[in-house]
Amino acid sequence: MTPPKSRKIAPSILSADFAHLADEIARVTEAGADMIHVDVMDGHFVPNFTIGPPIVKAIRKVTRLPLDVHLMMTNPDDFISDFIKAGSNYITVHVETCPHLHRMIQSIKEEGVKAGVTLNPATPLSSVEEILGEVDLLLIMSVNPGFGGQSFIPSILEKLRRARKMIDERGAKVELEIDGGIKVENVAAIAQAGADIFVSGSAIFQSKDYKDTIQKMRTAIG
Ligand code: DX5
Ligand code: ZN
Repeated sequence: MTPPKSRKIAPSILSADFAHLADEIARVTEAGADMIHVDVMDGHFVPNFTIGPPIVKAIRKVTRLPLDVHLMMTNPDDFISDFIKAGSNYITVHVETCPHLHRMIQSIKEEGVKAGVTLNPATPLSSVEEILGEVDLLLIMSVNPGFGGQSFIPSILEKLRRARKMIDERGAKVELEIDGGIKVENVAAIAQAGADIFVSGSAIFQSKDYKDTIQKMRTAIG
């Protein structure tokens, strides 16, 4: 297996204190975060509701870190240009919501934004096989999307290994991201399975010392 070139930690602000978002982002930035993961939920594709383009725009003004925007919504087509204008650096859409995935990925990339595609735990990797050469990022969900603080689904480790293999065998320039249930205790095994980007919400934002937690994660992922 080709080792990933650079591994990144992406705190998910879903578990941050929304009343003090700028402070929370400053704290994880100071603690060594590589990017900020933003979970957009529409109360329809997932049973929860979070934030929209105005908040992404507000966050953009308070950080220089890349904004990794994860769209958990039924109709990303209708809002993609708003999330681009708001200052997203990465936009990731769920294959389950995109009948015209190729067109969606092209429209994101045409605007100079990195395009990602993501799969729910029960969605097979074969559903992204044909688009792999077009995307910048492949996000594997290791929980059912909708909430922070859930447990990592153990069988996803094997799916992650297969995703790594699929990317390497094709020589695709795709970053492999994992999202859900990632904490200090399991991040080493997840790194060994081949992830490049580690999203972590509750394990970071519910810890007392963000820097200590992120440093421990970084040591574990090598
Ligand atoms: C879940 C979200 C995740 C979530 C992860 O639907 O996509 O990004 O914030 O939270 P933790 O790390 O607490 O599982
Ligand atoms: Zn997410």
